[in-house]
Amino acid sequence: MPDKGDFGSSESHETLPGGERVLIRRARPEDVALYPDFLADVSAEDLRLRFFARVAELSAEESDKLSHLDYRHEMAFIALDEDTGQMLGLVRLKDELDEKTAEFAILVRSRVKGHGLGWLLMQRVIDYAKAKGLRRVYGDVLAENASMLQMCAELGFYAQDMGPDIKRVVLDLETSPASDRQPSGAVTKR
Ligand SMILES: CC(C)(COP(=O)(O)OP(=O)(O)OC[C@H]1O[C@@H](n2cnc3c(N)ncnc32)[C@H](O)[C@@H]1OP(=O)(O)O)[C@@H](O)C(=O)NCCC(=O)NCCS
Repeated sequence: MPDKGDFGSSESHETLPGGERVLIRRARPEDVALYPDFLADVSAEDLRLRFFARVAELSAEESDKLSHLDYRHEMAFIALDEDTGQMLGLVRLKDELDEKTAEFAILVRSRVKGHGLGWLLMQRVIDYAKAKGLRRVYGDVLAENASMLQMCAELGFYAQDMGPDIKRVVLDLETSPASDRQPSGAVTKR
């Protein structure tokens, strides 16, 4: 039986408007070595938006997850600066037990926020989820995280209230046109 993780094995090369030449590929266990430098350059506020209240456990827990990915049930795509080798962003996807639904989480290096990388990583993970035959992907986002909620809306997600502070953004992959959308012109594919 083919390894479902194979769907995500291709690499893509992009140029962001800030000039960063970016490689996006499946995360590998050895990428864990890039994580401390990446996290050191992510603002405390962005860490809170990504991990909510659990920031203190973050480094060890995330490093462990990244180095023990079971590609049958989880996936992570990493964005690397092709000139410096620095990690610029990461999106993770983890299947639910039904194997039709998966939860995503994304984090972009603070200094390249707003350059289109989050959009590219989301498109990458959506395309992967579609190819894998998943029916929907979702993510939990703080209600105050307006830019993430807006980006998700533009990608075709709808939002559900999960209490006063959290919204769950959900994308139905059987009807979503998200992967056909083109970047707004700022990001070039090489
Ligand atoms: C949220 C986050 C992932 C977004 O990544 P990013 O690289 O800054 O986002 P992008 O530059 O791709 O997109 C940002 C903006 O461009 C828009 N955009 C980007 N590419 C686009 C495209 N091709 N077409 C249309 N709109 C686009 C987005 O809607 C958004 O709009 P805004 O800046 O006016 O609010 C990033 O800010 C981050 O890591 N935040 C902290 C962690 C977090 O909040 N994670 C979410 C919870 S899991």
